[in-house]
Amino acid sequence: MLSGKVDAMRLIAHRGASGLAPENTLASFRLAMELGAEAVEFDVHQAADKELMVIHDESLRRTAGWPEHIRDLTWQELCRFDVGSWFDARFSAERIPRLDEVLDVVGKKTEVHLELKRGSAIYPGIEGRVVELLRRRRALKTCVVSSFDHQALRAVRALEPKARLGYLLGDTPIAAAWEEIRELSAESLHLSLRQVNAARVAGGHRRRLRVLVYTVNDAAEAHRLRKIGVDGVFTNFPRLLEKTV
Ligand code: G3P
Ligand code: MG
Repeated sequence: MLSGKVDAMRLIAHRGASGLAPENTLASFRLAMELGAEAVEFDVHQAADKELMVIHDESLRRTAGWPEHIRDLTWQELCRFDVGSWFDARFSAERIPRLDEVLDVVGKKTEVHLELKRGSAIYPGIEGRVVELLRRRRALKTCVVSSFDHQALRAVRALEPKARLGYLLGDTPIAAAWEEIRELSAESLHLSLRQVNAARVAGGHRRRLRVLVYTVNDAAEAHRLRKIGVDGVFTNFPRLLEKTV
C-alpha cells in the first residue's frame, strides 16, 4: 500500500486539474488552485489578432467539435466556442482563456509551466509577446517557458536572459539535447513516461537540471519515478499522492 506525500516530488497540475474539469479552461485552473496545486502547466497558441490563447491543440476539433484553427480566428471569434461540454455538460460556459486570464487565476505564488506549442515559424512574434507579458506582470521568476520547439526556446533566451526555460525532449537524441540545454541555459528536462529512465535522470542531475515527467496519473507510478530521482511530474490530478493505492 502506498499513500501520502512523496518527499520533494513536485506535482504540476497538467492543463490545470484536467482529470476533473475540462483541460486548459479557467474552471480547470480554479479547481487546481482549490486543490492546493503548487504548480500548473498549460499550452499556448496565438490567435489571428496575436492574442495569446491557452489551449492544447492547434484546432478546435477535439474540444469544441469544429475544424477551425486557432491562428485563423481572433480571440473574440474564439470566445464563441464552448470548450467545456465535451468533458461534461456542467462546463458548457467554458471558453478558451487568454494567457493573462489564466495568470490572473493562478496568482503570483504558483509555479507556472507555460508550454509554447509552436514558435515564430507558425506564430510570428509569439516569443516576444510571451516575454513582454511575463515582464509586465513580473512573472519571469515564477514562470518556466517550455517547448518541444527548441527554436522557440532559443528565441525566448535571445530576448530575455532571465527567462526560465524547460526543455521538452521530443524526438531530439539525448546527446544533442544535453548540448542544446547547455547552450540555452535551460533549467529542466521534461520527458514523457516512455522516455524517462534512471540514466537520464542521473544525467540531468549531474548537469544540475530538474527532471520532470509527463503525464503521470497513477500514484504507484509517481512513487516509482521518485525512487529513480525524478523531481516532479505533470499530472491531471493535483492530489494524486493523497490517494491510497
Ligand atoms: O509540458 C508537458 C506536457 O504537457 C507535454 O505534452 O501534449 O500534454 O502538451 P502535452
Ligand atoms: Mg503541455
